[in-house]
Amino acid sequence: MTDWETIDFFSDESLVQDPYPYFDQLRSTCPVLPLPHRGVVAVTGYDDASEVYRDIDTFSSCNSVVGPFATFPVPLEGDDVSDIVDRYRDQLPMHEHMVTMDPPAHTRERALLMRLITPKRLKDNEAFMWRLADRQLDELIAGGHGEFISSYAQPFAMLVVADLLGVPETEHEEFREGFGLSLSPGKIGAGEKGTPGTNPLAWLDEWFGRYIEERRREPRKDVLTDLALATYPDGSTPDVISVVRTATFLFAAGQETTARLLASALRYLAENPDLQDQLRELHELIPNFVEEMLRIESPVKADFRLARRTTTVGGVDIAAGAPVVLMNGAANRDPRQFERPAECRIDRPNAQAHIAFGRGPHSCPGGPLARAEGRISLERILDRMADIRISEEHHGPPAARVFRYEPTWVLRGLSELHIEFTPI
Ligand code: HEM
Repeated sequence: MTDWETIDFFSDESLVQDPYPYFDQLRSTCPVLPLPHRGVVAVTGYDDASEVYRDIDTFSSCNSVVGPFATFPVPLEGDDVSDIVDRYRDQLPMHEHMVTMDPPAHTRERALLMRLITPKRLKDNEAFMWRLADRQLDELIAGGHGEFISSYAQPFAMLVVADLLGVPETEHEEFREGFGLSLSPGKIGAGEKGTPGTNPLAWLDEWFGRYIEERRREPRKDVLTDLALATYPDGSTPDVISVVRTATFLFAAGQETTARLLASALRYLAENPDLQDQLRELHELIPNFVEEMLRIESPVKADFRLARRTTTVGGVDIAAGAPVVLMNGAANRDPRQFERPAECRIDRPNAQAHIAFGRGPHSCPGGPLARAEGRISLERILDRMADIRISEEHHGPPAARVFRYEPTWVLRGLSELHIEFTPI
């Protein structure tokens, strides 16, 4: 059993393997709880986390990615630190991406994004997903075994975003090769000095910058032109760099998260052959299974906010300037919301009520995409592979499995998943 009174969420490697006993301990001590390190307040209760997500007047998103590692040049003193937050937010990591913005900047950038993710675009993108799933599976299936994340989940999730943004299919291979980036934020052991860089997406910025400028000069009938010519709600045209960042951030937000979701789902199916058969037989059960995987193994296990004002959540005082960690992975296992929360129940009536995609104005705009990616991948995988098993050579026998997880305090996901199967 972990001991929350001494453990440091941001450096403890045992939490990477299995954070759930720690989450349970925090929640049962108090769903809103000041942690012993870094002045952070942990929110592990479902209702409390939803409340913080929605209260954008009190809680700023300026530190949403780096949490307590968002440091200001002056002390955050007093009962209202809003002025300091707004004055210095441009010095914080990832400040140029919408996920760290507050209104009015967030409202504008989010509206721009929502003009790109139209129902028509999503429909075309879904048609591409079916083709892509089979193409990626061709690579994996040829061998009868393989490492699922690098050979399917990551390229699949990356190319889905590329297609969404209109990167032509002829350029996907070059894109895949050039995309040698690790986008996992919050690496354990990075320490205060090694906080995530201010712009880990520079490579993509350059790529899209070229595209957008070209399409503004010479518009064509394609999605990149729509992207290049999209305007803010007031009719004004964004700078090239704002459009580029909106585009490139989708890779950061949509790739690793979705890849880890697919891996959790496949691992679970490989360990539960009866369920595998059931879902192969009844595809209509797959969406709820995807919801349960999002809930039980929430790919974004921790998200952050900063209290602008001294306030109270769940009866607990939170000082102005305090970083708050919203532990989605804990809230989604709150027994007051989900009966027998650690169990995957594909007939759970409120499976969709999880907060794996957050809540409120920043809630994940890629949710429908991620759900479609899960559904389509699992349908094609189950149709094309029988008897999917965990590779004992790589992960050990059933009674002594060894799985490694990504060493970050933001994401929850397997590092590798070696499987075997019989091609159908
Ligand atoms: C299983 C997959 C995914 C999970 C678990 C996930 C989770 C989340 C969460 C929790 C947030 C809220 C952040 C906050 O409030 O601080 C978020 C925001 C966001 N997500 Fe996702 N996401 C996933 C997939 C995607 C995909 C596929 C895309 C797009 C292609 C995407 C794009 C975004 C963007 C742009 C934001 C920022 C929205 C804003 O700040 O208004 N996500 N995501």
